[in-house]
Amino acid sequence: MNSKLCKILNIKYPIIQGAMAWISTAELAAAVSNAGGLGIIAGGNAPAEIIKKEIDKIKQLTDKPYAINVMLLSPYVDEIMDLVISEKVPVITTGAGNPGKYMKDLKEANTKVIPVVPSVALAKRVEKAGADAVIVEGTEAGGHIGELTTMALVPQVVDAVNIPVIAAGGIADGRGMMAAFCLGAEGVQVGTRFVCSEECTVHEKYKEKILKAKDRDTVVTGRNTGHPVRIIKNKLAKEFEHLERKGASIEEIETLGAGKLRIAAIDGDIENGSIMSGQIAGLVKDIKSCKEIIEEMTDQMTKTYESISRICK
Ligand SMILES: Cc1cc2nc3c(=O)[nH]c(=O)nc-3n(C[C@H](O)[C@H](O)[C@H](O)COP(=O)(O)O)c2cc1C
Repeated sequence: MNSKLCKILNIKYPIIQGAMAWISTAELAAAVSNAGGLGIIAGGNAPAEIIKKEIDKIKQLTDKPYAINVMLLSPYVDEIMDLVISEKVPVITTGAGNPGKYMKDLKEANTKVIPVVPSVALAKRVEKAGADAVIVEGTEAGGHIGELTTMALVPQVVDAVNIPVIAAGGIADGRGMMAAFCLGAEGVQVGTRFVCSEECTVHEKYKEKILKAKDRDTVVTGRNTGHPVRIIKNKLAKEFEHLERKGASIEEIETLGAGKLRIAAIDGDIENGSIMSGQIAGLVKDIKSCKEIIEEMTDQMTKTYESISRICK
C-alpha cells in the first residue's frame, strides 16, 4: 500500500497491532509482522530481562520489522531503552509522555520512535523532539485512555504536525481503516481486534468476553485518579463504580486496580480481573489468524473505497 508509514517502517500494510500489556507477546507480534503489518511486544512494567527474552523469541519467529512498546513511567525505563538500543530494535512506540531525552541515542541506533499521544499539544512536542510518526489514540480504545474521540482528534493532529499520523481507538475492520485515511491518517493501530486472533496467547475466557460484548458493554474506571481505563463490565467494574460513587481516595481505587489485568489475561479470572477492551468489541465476532484479519481489513477497505467513490460521483 502506498502509505508513507509503510515506507518509513518497511512494512507491507499500514496496520500496527497495538501494544497490550500481558497480551501482546512475541507470538502475537511475530504473527502480525509476518502477515505484513507491524507487531508490537508490550513492555508494560516488566524489567529488561523479561523484554530481552521476548526480543530473542521474536527474532526466532520473524525476520520482519517489529516494535517494543516502552512505558515511560516504568521503573525500568532506562534499562529498557539501553536494551532496545543494544538489540537494535527496529521500532519503539512509547506511552505516557515525551521520549525526548532518549531520542538522540535511539536515532543513532537507527530505531524509529513513535509515541502514543492523546492531544494536539503532545503531538507537537514529540514531533519537535524528533519522533518519526505519532499514534493518535481516541477514547474509544481499550486500556488507558484520553478524553477525545478518534474522529475529533485525528484530523486536528493531522493539521498540526508534518510527521505521519496513525489513528488508534475504535478501528477493527476495513471501514474503520478507510475512515482513518479519510481523516488524514497514514496508518492504523488496532488492539481489541487482535486480542481475538488465533495467535494471541491471552486466556480463552478473555477472548470469549470480547466476542460476547455488545456496543455498550465497556465502562471507564478510575477517572478521578487521572488514569482512566476502559474495561468490559464485570464484578470488578462494579466494585470500581461503588468505590468511586462513595468518594474513595485515589489510593483505594489504584489498589483495587493493581495486578488485575494479569489475573484476567493470564489466569482467566474474568469476574475479578480487568478485561481491558475497546468500545469496538461489539464488532468483533470471530477468532481468525492475524493474516486473515489483516487481509479482511484491506479487502473491506478497498470495497468501502469503491462505495465512497459511488456516493461522491
Ligand atoms: C488489553 C489492552 C491492553 C493495552 N495495553 C497497552 C499498553 O501496555 N501500552 C499501550 O501503549 N497501549 C495499550 N493499549 C492500547 C492499544 O495499544 C491500542 O492503542 C488500542 O487498543 C487501540 O484501540 P482499540 O482497542 O479500539 O483497537 C492496550 C489496549 C488493550 C485492549
